[in-house]
Amino acid sequence: MAAALPLLTLRHVDVPPNFEAWRTLAREALMRGDAPETIDFRDATVAAPQSLISTSSELRVVPTERKAYVSALFLEKARVVAAHRDPQRWNLLFRLLYRLQSNRNLLKIEVDADVSAMLRMEQQVRRDIHKMHAFVRFRSMMDQHGEHMIAWYNPEHRILELAAPFFAERFAVMRWSIFTPDASVAWDPLVKQLQFGPGAGRESAPAEDEMEELWKTYYSGIFNPARLNPSVMRSHMPVKYWGQLPEVALIPTLIQSAGERVNEMVQLQTSKPSAAPFVPERHSLPALREAMPGCRGCDLYKCATQVVPGAGGAHAPLMLVGEQPGDQEDLEGKPFVGPAGKLLRKALEEIHVTSKEVFMTNAVKHFKFTQRGKRRMHQSPRMSEITACKPWLLAEIDAVKPKLIVCLGASAAKSLLGGTFALMRDRGKVLSTPFAEHVMATVHPSAVLRAPDHAMREQLFHHLRDDLASALQFVRRAA
Ligand code: URA
Ligand code: SF4
Repeated sequence: MAAALPLLTLRHVDVPPNFEAWRTLAREALMRGDAPETIDFRDATVAAPQSLISTSSELRVVPTERKAYVSALFLEKARVVAAHRDPQRWNLLFRLLYRLQSNRNLLKIEVDADVSAMLRMEQQVRRDIHKMHAFVRFRSMMDQHGEHMIAWYNPEHRILELAAPFFAERFAVMRWSIFTPDASVAWDPLVKQLQFGPGAGRESAPAEDEMEELWKTYYSGIFNPARLNPSVMRSHMPVKYWGQLPEVALIPTLIQSAGERVNEMVQLQTSKPSAAPFVPERHSLPALREAMPGCRGCDLYKCATQVVPGAGGAHAPLMLVGEQPGDQEDLEGKPFVGPAGKLLRKALEEIHVTSKEVFMTNAVKHFKFTQRGKRRMHQSPRMSEITACKPWLLAEIDAVKPKLIVCLGASAAKSLLGGTFALMRDRGKVLSTPFAEHVMATVHPSAVLRAPDHAMREQLFHHLRDDLASALQFVRRAA
């Protein structure tokens, strides 16, 4: 029967869902002289009826002497339109490409049906990309390599490849992955390349998705019921996007049982230490100072004299984050009052910072030490302690809203810039993270004090002072 239909020789070409694949196939068709009415580019992701003519390999032998014309503008737009889910996009693009051969000004004719269809699709895809940039929410997870930011997102179109470079640039120093139903992408700050992989599968709707379950468990573990405020949540995020956020599924249950959950939370931290249940809803500095002594988020409160909250300008544009209070800070309850603090203050004096311009705090709020006779020897906090204490730091950031945060040393950098951050390589650079718009790291004043010789000490001090100077310049310029 098929042989009786020779007049209907429509050539069917299955196109995998990526622009380069279509481009190769379209170029071949153009070279063969196929007219748009004689060829059907089918979306290989859409179940299609059996074709009358298959694309056998000999049909794809191509004379090479003819040269196809493509403009940069067409390529730019076609690349975007290729991400659209409309199965007819490949045929539309081929029609345009074909017509472009005899009319190089075609794309300027906006009233043309094909051109206007392309522009409409382009705009829909671009809008979807913007939306993704605005609404992807990363969640911090710990795996064997440390912190890993993970996001799930369900875009309208196949935009992951187009949208991903934005995140690579913005969160260059963090380890992160984004999963969508069609594809996933991972970024490792050490490899510095976007790695695309398979999607989480459209058939596994977010609600049933295994990863969703993981998030739910995780979120119910760190979710702070005391801070639960649906109206604030709603004002931050239009309700129609709530479906994108896995924790939203939990909200009704959390609202219902907020009271009981507080106790459960406290229990839960034995398995996952976190200050989250102790951080008050209101992130004003006085509220944080009042609540902080009650923190049992990890074991460090047990041996320390007292908690040491941040101090300084309440709306300081510059926030300095150290590691943890030292011996003297622990006794006085104020940050940076010991030897390292004196050195830091000297560096700040040299660059003429006013006291209103800085807020000083630490990644961990309790002093960690080992007793050696009468002396208490500083001990570096573990990653789990830094992570446990992070909600306090984030709350202080939220209260002060600094323009730039400077991490002093590796511990603070681990808290805000991830475990793989290379301090000596990337110090002094203004970076972006999901926690704060602008973050920089530099050497810790204690590292200056510990330097083995005078020359080294001078050099490290200059690093510290110069990085602080460029940080100050940054915030003053932004003012
Ligand atoms: N070192 C820090 O990291 N923080 C302080 O508060 C004091 C010394
Ligand atoms: Fe809480 Fe931080 Fe102290 Fe641990 S170190 S008890 S998390 S304030």
